[in-house]
Amino acid sequence: MELHILEHRLKVASIEKEGIQVCTHGLLKLAFLSSRTRCKFFSLTETPEDYTIILPQSEFMSVADASWLALNVVSGGGNASSSQPIGVTKIAKSVIAPLADHNISVFMLSTYQTDYILVRERDLPLVMHTLSSEFTLLRVVNGETVAAGALGVTNGFVKPKLVPRPIIHPLSSPSNLFCVTSLDPDTLPSVATLLMDIMLYSGGSKDSGANPDDSSRIRFFSFSLIEGYISLVMDEQTAQRFPNNVLFTSASGELWKMVRIGGQPLGFDECGIVAQISEPLATADIPAYYISTFKFDHALVRNIYRRHTLQEALQI
Ligand code: ARG
Repeated sequence: MELHILEHRLKVASIEKEGIQVCTHGLLKLAFLSSRTRCKFFSLTETPEDYTIILPQSEFMSVADASWLALNVVSGGGNASSSQPIGVTKIAKSVIAPLADHNISVFMLSTYQTDYILVRERDLPLVMHTLSSEFTLLRVVNGETVAAGALGVTNGFVKPKLVPRPIIHPLSSPSNLFCVTSLDPDTLPSVATLLMDIMLYSGGSKDSGANPDDSSRIRFFSFSLIEGYISLVMDEQTAQRFPNNVLFTSASGELWKMVRIGGQPLGFDECGIVAQISEPLATADIPAYYISTFKFDHALVRNIYRRHTLQEALQI
């Protein structure tokens, strides 16, 4: 299998709910007028806390902390067979666990199409060393995929002891269910006003949901436009606002339950959080998407699982 190291040098930023209005000009351009920005990696996720934005660093923006590189596992053979597990479950044992074992912090962004593992640029030599036995490492340079040369890390690397990985952060599960979906970029103009409303102006009306007194519902919406592919994660009620046949749905029209990870903001230095959740899910063969945001992490698992199946898998 191949691991592609993409060329975007990414920044992860948080914009306060009240501050989004000063950024809308730029965000609208990134989301809807990508031909004018040349930006190939953009993601915006709204949670109750804030907006998390992932985008290539630019001279016009300064955000504290590191630059991140996106890794993407590409399975050989081209056509994705339907039997393949999806989401973070597929890469839990081959990528997420080894990185956690080597104390490498990651930031996850699952999309409808694929899963991006963001690692800090400065950790790249160690990342490459950790994953080189399992993957053919390729680096994207000026749009071309080339073999990633060794970065001078010797092979005398001590294999870390595999220690058990209990879940250490509190988990919670909102009552609303989510769709992980996409749309044809050609239909984007036809839903642009709706998407703008959902993405950037949800604030005022509190919620568009049917049952506003249900306090265990959360506001969560994620839009990404990466290398021409759009991915959307939204709750069932929000999806109903779209015209028929615009959003891609899998045959079963699946709905996903969210597990939020973290009581206090998780920060960016701690490692192993994604591994704590994704490894047991992979062991139990439970597909999951995983989206890190500035403060917390979010796993999405199919709603077909009974509560005790998940509790058993996650040992909670
Ligand atoms: N760094 C964590 C890990 O390696 C995941 C990201 C958690 N932090 C966050 N701000 N969402 O597992």
